[in-house]
Order: sequence, then C-alpha cells, then structure tokens
Amino acid sequence: MARKIVFTSGKGGVGKTTVAANLGMCLAAAGERVVLADTDFGLNNIDVVCGVEGLIHYDIVDAIEGRCRARQALVRHPQSANLYILASNHTDPEKYISPQAVRLILDSIARSFDYILIDCPAGIEAGFHRAVASAEEAIVVTTPHVSSLRDADKAISVLKSYRLKSVELVINMARGDMIVDGEVLSPREISDILKTPLLGVIPQDDGVFLGERGGSAQKAFRLLAGNVMQGTRRIYNAAGKYGGFFGSIRRSLKKNL
Ligand SMILES: Nc1ncnc2c1ncn2[C@@H]1O[C@H](COP(=O)(O)OP(=O)(O)OP(=O)(O)O)[C@@H](O)[C@H]1O
Ligand SMILES: [Mg+2]
Repeated sequence: MARKIVFTSGKGGVGKTTVAANLGMCLAAAGERVVLADTDFGLNNIDVVCGVEGLIHYDIVDAIEGRCRARQALVRHPQSANLYILASNHTDPEKYISPQAVRLILDSIARSFDYILIDCPAGIEAGFHRAVASAEEAIVVTTPHVSSLRDADKAISVLKSYRLKSVELVINMARGDMIVDGEVLSPREISDILKTPLLGVIPQDDGVFLGERGGSAQKAFRLLAGNVMQGTRRIYNAAGKYGGFFGSIRRSLKKNL
C-alpha cells in the first residue's frame, strides 16, 4: 500500500512542485513505484515540470467525474519506468472538487504503488485542505527567507488539526554562503524555530530541473530520498564548501555574481 505524502508550504513559489518531482524521480530510480499527483487545480504544472504535458489524455478530474478509470489517467514518465504522473485539470479552476473525491481516486490506486506524492497548491485555503485530506504524512517545504518561514509556520499549525503520521521539513534554495555569513538562519535553527524535524536541505542550484545530473541539488535529492525510504536523517551540508580559506573566496565570488 502506497505511502501518501503531501507537499505543502503556505507560501507560493518556494519549490513544492520541484521538490516533489525530483524526489519522485529519485525514489523511482531506486526501484520504488511512484505516482506524482497534482492537486493544484487551476495553476497545475507538474506535467510541465516532468515534461509529459503532451502525453496527457485524461486528468484527475476526468477520473473523479467518471470519464475514465483512475489508472487510465496515469501517465508513465518516458525516461523513468516506475514514475507515473496524475495530472490535474486547468480548464475550470472554479469547479468544486471535494477532498473526499480526491481521496477516493488516490485510494483506488494506492495498492499498486509504493508512494503517492501529492503536490499541494500555495495557501492554506480549500486547495490545501483538499490535498492534505488524502495524505498520511506531510512534508513542509520552505526557503530560509522570513516570509516563507512565517507561512510555513502557519501551514504547520493547520496541519496539526489533521491526524498525520509525520510532519517534516525540507529547506529549499539554501545558500551556503549566506548561512556561513550569518545572513540567513541555518537549517538547524529553522527546524528549531518551526519545531519541526528536518528531513532534507536542497541547495539553490541552476541545475535543479528534473533528471539533470551533476548539480549539487541532485546529491541533496538523493540524500532526501534515502531519508524518506530508510528513515535515516542524512542532511545535505549546504554550507560545507563555504568554510575555511577557499570557502571565503567562494563566498565572495558568489556574492559578486
Ligand atoms: N533548489 C532550487 N534552486 C533553484 N531554483 C529552484 C529551486 N527549487 C525551485 N526552484 C525554482 O523556483 C521556481 C518555483 O518552484 P516551484 O514551481 O517548484 O514552486 P512551488 O512552491 O511549487 O510554486 P507554486 O506555489 O506556484 O505551486 C521554479 O522556477 C523552480 O525551477
Ligand atoms: Mg507548485
């Protein structure tokens, strides 16, 4: 039976979709059967991030409204045999879709998969509740910036009203140079302030797009996937290469970019 994990943040644009998609890719590469489910009705984009937008025939709303079976709405990723995308509908964002309807669809496919990763819209309104109601675990994605932390805090307090097995934190777009220079809080400090255990740190990296090899984000996503699968807590050290003499040169180079 699949583990159902929702990705929330409160604030928009902090990397929920990016983290869910890259984690899904890493889990699938490790042999896990993964569904990436987009519940961001209206601003849905997981199909685009995964590069399968041209392959979508049915979406989750078609499955909910009985035009297809849930399995027919799953699109297999062309480069990753274990990764399936359940796209969401963007034609009518005003249409009311209940949390129970989404849950029924996800439950109907849960037996055939190991993970269902649920990409949640920004905010803590109806779309948030629709996504969280289907999940058993939550990953809160935040950047180190104050506005993102404040919204993450709000999201975490709303998540407390759900009976979730776990609520954990992924800090995205971490900048090692800024951590070392004390311009942003360190991941541990953020985890302490939000009173939420740290599951992963992803650096800011131009090579963050799905499946790209070699970037520091790829290493961080692999560590995150290991933590999710094995229950370990190996955290990517974003500040690692910015310490010491050579680190101070890297820091000033990065600042002058
Ligand atoms: N670690 C990273 N390093 C560099 N760029 C990143 C990183 N993570 C995400 N981005 C970029 O930030 C932008 C927002 O990311 P994304 O769409 O995943 O956020 P989101 O939280 O899902 O947004 P929304 O709330 O609109 O759904 C994208 O352009 C993405 O490529
Ligand atoms: Mg998104």
